[in-house]
Amino acid sequence: MRYTKINGTGHAVPPKVLTNDDLAKIVETNDEWISSRTGIKRRHISVTETTTDLAEQASLKALEASSVTIDDIDMVIVATVTPDHAFPGVSNLLQQRLNLKEIPTFDINAACSGFVYALNLADKLIKSEAYDHILIVGAETLTRLTDWSDRNTCVLFGDGAGAMVISKSEKPGIKDIIVGSRSDTEGHLICDSPDLKDPSVNKISQQDHIHMNGREVFKFATRVMPSTINQLLERNQLDKEDIDYVIAHQANKRIIEKASKDVDIPMDKMYVNIQNYGNTSAASVPIAIDEAIRKGHIKPGDTFVTVAFGGGFTYGGALINL
Ligand code: ACO
Repeated sequence: MRYTKINGTGHAVPPKVLTNDDLAKIVETNDEWISSRTGIKRRHISVTETTTDLAEQASLKALEASSVTIDDIDMVIVATVTPDHAFPGVSNLLQQRLNLKEIPTFDINAACSGFVYALNLADKLIKSEAYDHILIVGAETLTRLTDWSDRNTCVLFGDGAGAMVISKSEKPGIKDIIVGSRSDTEGHLICDSPDLKDPSVNKISQQDHIHMNGREVFKFATRVMPSTINQLLERNQLDKEDIDYVIAHQANKRIIEKASKDVDIPMDKMYVNIQNYGNTSAASVPIAIDEAIRKGHIKPGDTFVTVAFGGGFTYGGALINL
């Protein structure tokens, strides 16, 4: 039986930071509202950086932290809803930037759950013995889709990328994964145009942007996150005490708090970094995992659950032993 493991992680964010006070100068909002309703204090915003730029920086760090070299990578999967172009994909551009050999490279879109979907593919393909080492990336410049005149959404998002090298292993690392989708028939979370906005037009909101019914998304998230965590525990005969950490998609601190209460796992075991990054969509989970590893919150041998939800409505979760 072949197993898979996380063999190196990395993340990158653009240097420009936008605080809640900065946003209060653009729309009618304030730090108190944003902090208390979402947990967000600041977010990183790309100015000139593209999704591929961020993906490249995160990938280099993940490769450096891994036991393999660029030549060992035999597939690249990038999860993004904000590719630089309709085509070629960010994964193809990454292949050029990293000087990767001739291997399959492709992008996937499962909104904020995209990274867990990419993890699922990498895990299954390596276990099938078709591939040995797959680079997976969640990378976004979501602020290019943001309507800066809509206070309901513009306070929520940030830009960034997280990457992981997933490798074959002799011991079980990635133990179980759930991915799913429940139709958002009402269009509670939708962005009609995939064009990344020209910032000069974006300012006056003439182009299409993200549309969100926050309350409905909140309801979906607070239902699906606890049920995914509980399913992973049940089908692996684990108790919540066996879990060292939960790394949830960082969309709203209150969603994480609600999940913590519902699964009865204390908040000190729920990783939270939304205060620094906002919601970075498909990048949120790998950024949080990399940060938690580098800060020593998750150590080799620890068992953690990661869980995400997003537009679609998609969801996913994984049980991992580092
Ligand atoms: N500053 C000040 N007031 C605001 C702001 C703001 N930035 N945004 C909204 N308000 C106002 C509203 O207009 C509303 O005023 P009203 O009562 O006069 O109409 C009031 O605050 C309350 O608004 P609610 O929508 O009820 O606020 P809620 O507590 O539900 O929080 C939020 C809103 C933060 C959006 C929450 O619903 C949420 O986090 N939902 C989930 C969002 C999410 O996870 N999205 C995933 C996106 S993934 C993707 O897009 C790829």
